[in-house]
Amino acid sequence: MSEIHVDFGDRSYVVIVESGALGSLGSRISTAMKPSGVIVVTNPVVGEWYGDLAEASIAGAGLKVSRITIPAGERFKTMRTLDRVLRQMVELGADRRGVVVALGGGVVGDVAGFAAAVYMRGVRVVQVPTTLLAMVDASVGGKTGVDLPSGKNLVGAFHQPSLVLADIDTLRTLPARELRAGFAEVVKHGIIFDQGLFDFSFTNAEALLRRDTVAIEHVVCRSVEIKREVVQKDEREAGLRAILNYGHTVGHAIESLTGYAQYRHGEAIAIGMVVEARLSEVIGVAEAGLARRTAEALRRFRLPTAVPAELSADAILAAMMADKKTVGGELRFALPDRIGHCRVVEKVDANSVSAAIHQCRK
Ligand SMILES: NC(=O)c1ccc[n+]([C@@H]2O[C@H](COP(=O)([O-])OP(=O)(O)OC[C@H]3O[C@@H](n4cnc5c(N)ncnc54)[C@H](O)[C@@H]3O)[C@@H](O)[C@H]2O)c1
Ligand SMILES: [Zn+2]
Repeated sequence: MSEIHVDFGDRSYVVIVESGALGSLGSRISTAMKPSGVIVVTNPVVGEWYGDLAEASIAGAGLKVSRITIPAGERFKTMRTLDRVLRQMVELGADRRGVVVALGGGVVGDVAGFAAAVYMRGVRVVQVPTTLLAMVDASVGGKTGVDLPSGKNLVGAFHQPSLVLADIDTLRTLPARELRAGFAEVVKHGIIFDQGLFDFSFTNAEALLRRDTVAIEHVVCRSVEIKREVVQKDEREAGLRAILNYGHTVGHAIESLTGYAQYRHGEAIAIGMVVEARLSEVIGVAEAGLARRTAEALRRFRLPTAVPAELSADAILAAMMADKKTVGGELRFALPDRIGHCRVVEKVDANSVSAAIHQCRK
């Protein structure tokens, strides 16, 4: 079992990473939070697998528990779903001392976290991530929100959880493609912050894909520690936090151009990381070889690494310009200068980006 402390002053919390952690959910909430009641927000898939276990643990600790189920999938990460969750919270009698448990992947975490952020101006939320992506990324750091028809994550709030409980046993039922997509963020954490994590992932890829508990626990913990280091220094993305966006400028463009249907998020950012590593070489921030090593690591996790033929460089550039992170039409990227270190580079010229995209086709 690992316990990682995230320090935000009076909003500090711990991240528990453990196989079988779900069994202790109720006692942890009861002891640390003394809530008036608990509402578990989940989706039908995760609810079917783990809902009863979570509720039994909460009820077993003597707490009142109810469940709200939202439909599965990114297309339901909407204001409408948020509205329904909030109304059900009222119907269930939730008060300001209640606690929301977000039991699921990043979609559930974002919607339930946002509901908790705004319900009665804010109630506590416990993140219980059940996808690898949510464990290594989405559940830590306090970003919550929903999509609008015009773009992803356009509405949201910063709302730190009061506890994060990652039960790595839940990954056993995760579809293989979702698992692989999660490893893209692990590789990202290695490249931007920790060569040791990069090397470990590279060497142990097969064990990780087999869901070896010890190997998975190691990469989840290391990823959480890295994300903690970054968000503790820059909670609201004024500076350093932007390095977490490595691979995401190009990756988001690819997701949006393919209608969020062709690639899982992790797959799109895998391609994005290769392109941005190449870009880093093209503009002389990194030495030659970074993109090759990045692609080799991602291929070990059976992740895509080439820009699809049907996406022109111009289309990708236009989509990047439309991204909410692009300010004043100037392209900025989080670029690694070597494995394990990354910095933000401003005013990157479009020609260099085009060149990098061309060099990353099959
Ligand atoms: N808040 C943040 O900081 C942050 C960071 C990264 C991503 N995100 C958000 O996270 C979302 C993506 O999250 P995701 O990749 O976890 O996708 P997801 O939440 O859609 O989950 C993927 C699929 O796996 C299923 N599932 C989840 N856990 C399972 C389990 N243990 N066993 C079997 N099936 C399971 C779900 O039902 C779903 O169909 C996006 O909306 C993204 O914007 C947020
Ligand atoms: Zn991501």
